[in-house]
Amino acid sequence: MAKKVLVSGGAGYIGSHVTVELISAGYDVVVADNMSNCDMTCFEGVKKITGKDDIPFYQIDCCDFASVNRLFTEHEIDAVIHFAAFKAVGESVAEPIKYYRNNLVSFLNILEVAKSHGGCNVLFSSSATVYGEADILPVTEQTPRLPATSPYGNTKQMCEDILRDVVKATTGSENVINGIALRYFNPIGAHPSALIGELPRGVPNNLVPFITQTAIGKRECLSIFGNDYPTEDGTCLRDYIDVVDLAKAHVAAVSRMIDGKMKNGYEVFNVGTGRPVSVYELVRAFERVNGIELNYKFVDRRPGDVVAIWAETTLANNELGWKAERTVEETLASAWAWERNLSLLQK
Ligand code: UFG
Repeated sequence: MAKKVLVSGGAGYIGSHVTVELISAGYDVVVADNMSNCDMTCFEGVKKITGKDDIPFYQIDCCDFASVNRLFTEHEIDAVIHFAAFKAVGESVAEPIKYYRNNLVSFLNILEVAKSHGGCNVLFSSSATVYGEADILPVTEQTPRLPATSPYGNTKQMCEDILRDVVKATTGSENVINGIALRYFNPIGAHPSALIGELPRGVPNNLVPFITQTAIGKRECLSIFGNDYPTEDGTCLRDYIDVVDLAKAHVAAVSRMIDGKMKNGYEVFNVGTGRPVSVYELVRAFERVNGIELNYKFVDRRPGDVVAIWAETTLANNELGWKAERTVEETLASAWAWERNLSLLQK
């Protein structure tokens, strides 16, 4: 019988791509989402791409213990991938209580329910933000985490620690929790079908949705935050990971847990390409690949941005048997195809 994976936050940007890859790898998937930061566009896209009309979908809030408990009662869950969280850095600074309550309580509920149902494999979606402004680049999983600069970043660190501690406490018991934290670098792009992709509400915080919205005319001008950083062209360096590649890393990590291949009960992997790309390079690559002239200007630095971060990916390559494959050009073409298709889907 196919193994079953619960994807919390499965109607969102990364969750929808992961759902597609899980299904194409032969897993059964249960999707839970409170729809606080998305609509049904991506979930409908998932059904079209996979040709599966009967993916169980629960509109629930993981902060509600009884709802999470119902999921585990109605389904034999072999693994959980937990995406359901708020993710806007600036908003988290303004509304820390909202962020701590949502991001911590939902994860605690998942863990407590999973444990009470006999244990489970739990994959937590963490972030490169846990490294902060690292001294030595690229960062490895051993690079020390630095104090978080936002409540959002702090919730990522805290959830990693919670998972580690729960794994430790349940090891050898009848209710074993195994855990993997994947630290994403900068996820961008969309599925090649252009049926699912990033769907920011309001003004995008992140670079690529801002670029595509400027290209399509929803935004007048892209502001590039700072060109006086100590980098070759003066703009920040990031490790942009294609969202489909990222989704495949989740499948590899889930299989590792389910197939009993873990070397430790709690493991951490960087998920990036290992290649730094500057903001300016990314903007120029978008223009080149898509034959578009973008309206952009250089403005002051954005407070809180690190100068540079990119991943050492050897551990994920060797242990997960996973490697980023799509080129940044393919990814930027997919982001543009999604933006154009979205204007048709939402007409
Ligand atoms: N940028 C611009 N203009 C924009 C948006 C972004 O120049 O309109 C620049 C940023 O200054 C940064 C780069 O593009 O140099 C990437 O910015 P993003 O906002 O797309 O991504 P970040 O690297 O800031 O964000 C990532 C993750 C978050 C995480 C954060 C922590 O997306 O989940 O790092 O720093 F919390």
